Amino acid sequence: MLPAAFAQSPIVIKFSHVVATDTPKGKAAEFFAKRAMELTKGKVKVEVYPNSQLYKDKEEMEALQLGSVQMLAPSLSKFAPLGVKEFEVFDLPFIFDDYNDLHKITQGPVGANLLKKLESRGITGLAYWDNGFKVMSANKPLKSVEDYKGLKMRIQSSKVLDAQMRAIGALPQVLAFSETYQALQTGVVDGTENPPSNLYTQKMHEVQKHLSITNHGYLGYAVVVNKKFWDGLPADIRTALTKAMAESTKVANDTAFQDNQDALAKVKTSGKTTIYAPGLAERFLLKKAMIPVHKQMASRIGDETIQQIYKETNFDPSKL
Ligand code: LMR
Repeated sequence: MLPAAFAQSPIVIKFSHVVATDTPKGKAAEFFAKRAMELTKGKVKVEVYPNSQLYKDKEEMEALQLGSVQMLAPSLSKFAPLGVKEFEVFDLPFIFDDYNDLHKITQGPVGANLLKKLESRGITGLAYWDNGFKVMSANKPLKSVEDYKGLKMRIQSSKVLDAQMRAIGALPQVLAFSETYQALQTGVVDGTENPPSNLYTQKMHEVQKHLSITNHGYLGYAVVVNKKFWDGLPADIRTALTKAMAESTKVANDTAFQDNQDALAKVKTSGKTTIYAPGLAERFLLKKAMIPVHKQMASRIGDETIQQIYKETNFDPSKL
């Protein structure tokens, strides 16, 4: 017989992430913790560590593979260093017109096949969680393509984002998310790109005088678990967690659009950042400058994956 305390000790899932709790990912992670507890009747305890408290971008991936944490939801831009470069397809500028286009991939066969590619890295992909479309920010107005010339722009660790910034004459610099605010504040970099929700909750607007609603690319997440841990769970627990995850995905995706709208409104109210909405013609020129990145990166990402997305979303780059 096991002592009662031991028999009852819950399975702990450490869920580490880098953003604030008050973001689509932060809220969905908290919701998952609550539902996991409820649906397993206390047999699973999910401990959420937000804001890079436990690990920064690069370290969290290593920690997951080593089993020091069991669950993460890194941005799709952060999987290539694991050797799964296909994920950078989500970084291609202007590939998705809206959430509707995006969901054709994240909720369809192309997305499911991408998640399967993680298995060989000891990782199981459970779901895609939405965040949103990115804005550009800096301490100078960003209206025309020329305005980006020579600006040092913080990016996530993605070669596609690197190429995207170079395509408009900017100088990309990879930095961990947790280091971005300080880098902007001290002038290590001049600007950055992120969905408004991330920008606002990290207070980046306090150190960026200008923001342009370019919506030039998408940033979202794959929720992943350590495969050995996941496969080793009792089947009934895995079933309950799968249900909790499906519900949490709905929370993330139902929150994401509004959250980003609200963040933009709060940035505006703060009065610290001037917000610019590019007109159709300006956005077209930005698109024209960035679209060559699709071809440039085809051999890295895999042309097949790109073509699959074009097909699902009816995207034809030749018809600009
Ligand atoms: C970033 O590094 O800018 C984002 O990936 C942060 C996040 O997790 O949304």
